[in-house]
Amino acid sequence: MPSPPRKTAKITAVGKYLPEKILTNFDLEKMMDTTDEWIRTRTGIIERHIVADGEATSHMATKAAEEVLRKRQIGADEIDCIIIATMTPDMIFPSTAALVQHQLGASKAWGFDLSAACSGFLFALDTGARMIQSGQYQKLLVVGADTMSSILDYTDRSTSILFGDGAGAVLLEPCEDGREGIIDSILRTDGIGSDSLYMEAGGSLHPASAETVANKQHYLRQDGRSVFKYAVKWMAEVSAELAARNGLKSKDIQLFIPHQANKRIIDASAERLGLSEDQVLSNIDRYANTTAATIPLGMADAIDQKRLKPGDNVLLAAFGAGFTWGAMYIRWGEVL
Ligand code: COA
Repeated sequence: MPSPPRKTAKITAVGKYLPEKILTNFDLEKMMDTTDEWIRTRTGIIERHIVADGEATSHMATKAAEEVLRKRQIGADEIDCIIIATMTPDMIFPSTAALVQHQLGASKAWGFDLSAACSGFLFALDTGARMIQSGQYQKLLVVGADTMSSILDYTDRSTSILFGDGAGAVLLEPCEDGREGIIDSILRTDGIGSDSLYMEAGGSLHPASAETVANKQHYLRQDGRSVFKYAVKWMAEVSAELAARNGLKSKDIQLFIPHQANKRIIDASAERLGLSEDQVLSNIDRYANTTAATIPLGMADAIDQKRLKPGDNVLLAAFGAGFTWGAMYIRWGEVL
């Protein structure tokens, strides 16, 4: 007897939000010892969006989620669960998911935050997909949102130039015949990277104090070269492994949407997969690294630019603090 079709979770709508204010490389030239030319050639970044005073992760996440609801023409009360991937929550607690639930008016939803830095959206999408597959949930919001400007030291030229603020959201729904949606994924974590990219204070190990503030321990710190080395190796490796085990040759991949940390990391991963430029989504020039938001923002741009159609094979890949990394294979459907 043929085995019954495996239910999958499919993305049915994508929304995005970017704050109005733009910070260009030329603006940064006036703030620190850097140049537009250095930033452009070493990272591919030209400008990034930055929140307004009083604007935080939950506000951006809610706006991206509202666009999803608008496109899908459903009410917030139809949402079963909200997963927010972020490493810059409004507060350590309550969760940003609780704040977004309230701002959206998602009266029947529960939710939680997921912390996996730049791989957060991928981890959250995989988690959400499993929940849909369980049969218990019908409409689940997965949001990647980060206010990186809230943890950057704008006197440190080696880190502050790399990041921006933003949010992206997707709606997951069941696909009963499993013909489209999230097909496969490989996710990894290795704490070997915990001293390469981190924010030292504000948690239980180094609670906030006058001393931690004076020592600038509430800012993101990074060993850029080490992160670069691991990101190139592991993001490319996991993407290649996932493609191979699904029988995907380079010509079979219509779009690769990688985390946007550095154009050189994106290019190295694409090269390893044998992809040409038109098979790769890159928007790092306009948004910089928005951490958990890069992949849903990439999906939103790909839709706006009409670069995706039903049946396309889409590969996602991410790498971030932890270290955390992974790849996901999606068969694209009708996505609003
Ligand atoms: N403007 C001008 N010069 C800068 C600079 C800036 N914004 N930042 C660093 N430099 C200088 C350094 O001081 C160094 O000078 P020196 O040679 O006189 O000491 C020189 O540029 C080279 O620095 P280096 O760190 O070797 O540059 P790099 O080519 O490795 O690029 C990063 C630095 C941060 C762009 C790169 O390492 C990177 O992208 N790493 C990964 C970061 C990342 O992806 N993080 C998020 C993970 S998801």
